[in-house]
Amino acid sequence: MSTSLTIRRPDDWHLHLRDGDMLRAVLPETTRHFARAIIMPNLVPPVVTAADAIRYRAMITDALPAGSSFQPLMTLYLTEQTNPEDVAMAHATGLIAAVKLYPAGATTNSASGVANFDKVRGVLDRMAEIGLPLCVHGEVTDADIDIFDREAVFIDRVLDPIRRATPGLRVVMEHITTSGAVEYVQSQATDLAATITTHHLVINRNHILVGGIHPHYYCLPVAKRESHRLALVKAATSGDNHFFLGTDSAPHVDAAKETGCGCAGCFTATNTMSILAEVFDRENALPNLEAFTSLSGPAFYGLPVNKSTLTLTKGTPVAYPAKITSKAGPVTVFDPGFDLHWHVGP
Ligand code: DOR
Ligand code: ZN
Repeated sequence: MSTSLTIRRPDDWHLHLRDGDMLRAVLPETTRHFARAIIMPNLVPPVVTAADAIRYRAMITDALPAGSSFQPLMTLYLTEQTNPEDVAMAHATGLIAAVKLYPAGATTNSASGVANFDKVRGVLDRMAEIGLPLCVHGEVTDADIDIFDREAVFIDRVLDPIRRATPGLRVVMEHITTSGAVEYVQSQATDLAATITTHHLVINRNHILVGGIHPHYYCLPVAKRESHRLALVKAATSGDNHFFLGTDSAPHVDAAKETGCGCAGCFTATNTMSILAEVFDRENALPNLEAFTSLSGPAFYGLPVNKSTLTLTKGTPVAYPAKITSKAGPVTVFDPGFDLHWHVGP
């Protein structure tokens, strides 16, 4: 039985940091363990232009804990007005690592997202030309599509047609939640990858709804039934480099979660590495943890793997805070529902 594991320092390929006081409160939770993260652009207002991304990057670097070498990998929020040349310039200067597609209305702060995909054709073609990845929130928003089916329908009606119409476009299907998405991604070449969150490896829809409503387990895409969670665990722990970690750690203050219309998002930055080690350990897949957290993401994005390492050691239950304090109020840390035994050291 392994009791210690040293891996290349991990990266988070999908992270919400927000801005202002919330940014300051949550950033150390990520920089403690992660070297880099793809930073989601769904601020209010969103990060739409290269100039917005420059400003947001400066806010993040200003808020970094002293001595941190954390690198934010910036993204632009795709709108129907996005200018292909602005995107290409932001890519050429190394400012952005990806563009984010939110179908309009799909999730938190997605109102400026794309409703008519024909309007972003020019941007997608340009991205395919220059090899800039598109990160996709893969859910349709049609009122007549059941929320548990929205990912599957998106693959058929939107994602697959976009990829066929845009040969060479590199796509990350983000925070996948279904066995159908796993199978679709596995069946494609390496121009398609998927991120998997920590929480979707742990919870199914019962965690949200059984015995009362549990708002801190509500996120989008919403967790599905247990057979889907098992498919995600199998994919994440398999070592297949189509799949890598994107926590989608998404802070909302408790008041915004524990209310009549609560926000979507699980905050997992604090305990993600201990949870993942526990999940991989249970699957006897610890040797594949490094691929998931530290190797497959850089390979997809064409970035070097991190030089520094992180050591996980198995021992007594790990203590972590139940909440992070921000000036806007407390943020509840994701509770996996089981003890964590893997301590994260330098
Ligand atoms: O649960 C989620 N929260 N899903 C998203 O897509 C957005 C995120 C957020 O920004 O809070
Ligand atoms: Zn997200």
